[in-house]
Amino acid sequence: MRYHLHGKHLVLGVCGGIAAYKSVELLRHLVKEEAVVRVVMTDNAAHFVGPITFEALSHTPVCRNLFAISDEAAVQHIHWAQEAEAVVIAPATANIIGKLAGGIADDALSTFMLAVTCPVLICPAMNTHMYESKAVQRNLTLLKSYGYTILDPGAGELACGTTGPGRLPDPAIIFDALVDLLTPKDLEGRKVLITAGPTREAIDPVRFITNPSSGKMGYAVARAAAMRGAQVTLISGPTALAPPLNVCVLPVTSAAEMAAAVLGQMDGHDIIIKTAAVADFRPAAVSDLKIKKEQAQLSIALERTQDILKAVGERKKNQILVGFAAETHDLDAFATGKLKAKNLDIIVGNLIGPSDAGFCADTNRATLYFSNDTREQVDLMTKADLAHLLLDRIVGLAN
Ligand code: CTP
Repeated sequence: MRYHLHGKHLVLGVCGGIAAYKSVELLRHLVKEEAVVRVVMTDNAAHFVGPITFEALSHTPVCRNLFAISDEAAVQHIHWAQEAEAVVIAPATANIIGKLAGGIADDALSTFMLAVTCPVLICPAMNTHMYESKAVQRNLTLLKSYGYTILDPGAGELACGTTGPGRLPDPAIIFDALVDLLTPKDLEGRKVLITAGPTREAIDPVRFITNPSSGKMGYAVARAAAMRGAQVTLISGPTALAPPLNVCVLPVTSAAEMAAAVLGQMDGHDIIIKTAAVADFRPAAVSDLKIKKEQAQLSIALERTQDILKAVGERKKNQILVGFAAETHDLDAFATGKLKAKNLDIIVGNLIGPSDAGFCADTNRATLYFSNDTREQVDLMTKADLAHLLLDRIVGLAN
């Protein structure tokens, strides 16, 4: 089941860098998930964001200067190190990275870090040349050898005007990396192939047939599987979603492209999950030129696309195959019919209609149908939770 941050003791370390403002957003996100977050910041960090901001959001005094506080408070901060279930340092400057690599303890954050025994996520952010310098790279290698997890910085234009790696990733990515750090890896060693989103079937160079699939369910499954240690390939139709952390995304547009990608990839995967809303029909002929509105009426002849899931079901060997069924009525009959016709192990059925389930919604209300003729009715839950529940059932089948 999904790793929930509710009640977890976390420590956010903040260093002095332009990107310190992003750690405010990260803190908000963590507090929203009901984690108990304490903030340790360097003096330089306070030049960029005031401690009061972190105090207001975390509802706890910030630890900033071990030498200016009472003995009792100093001991309390050792308690923080012992209680912490994870520590994230974002942004991590070259200075703190060097101090942690060398075991130096000369301020609140570096001293605190020496007492930490839980998983640690380091998020470097600095000028590209600094980041690529031999000293910083050597120190990061040392930190990895100590068991710290390093979140690679993003590349792009930096505040200092240079372009290249060094940018602190968005708070949502740091959040995911932190949850990833804490999630048990029960899919370690498994290769999972997932499809998501709609397909587009061209009518002419400026028009196509599609459906309202947002891709949210498939991306949630990909994100969850990657967090649980699987090697994930996500074949995605056009969506507005960011690629999930540690997922290899193969973009496709049409049903034919999706079919070629899935059938080309399937042999290397243990688990195949098809959430994509594939178009069942495409225009029989695609006009090379834009169709003009000369006639009063227009008919477009459609032909069937390949049923990708059915083709995978016919070829699968010792692989777990999961499909999705979106129906407006008779869910039980249609879903179980597809389960058998496509040789699936599980089909996730959901009724399209309620605004809290199906296309575009962040939540889903589903029934899982299994090949042994059992079924499981699932309450309304987020697509992230449904993704983890589905993976729980898959892990159950795989073991
Ligand atoms: N699917 C597929 N290829 C298609 C159509 C559907 O792989 N050309 C897969 C979907 O990814 C989903 C499952 O089949 O996992 C069921 O899709 P759905 O649209 O609900 O059903 P269809 O099989 O297309 O049947 P119908 O449209 O008649 O309901």
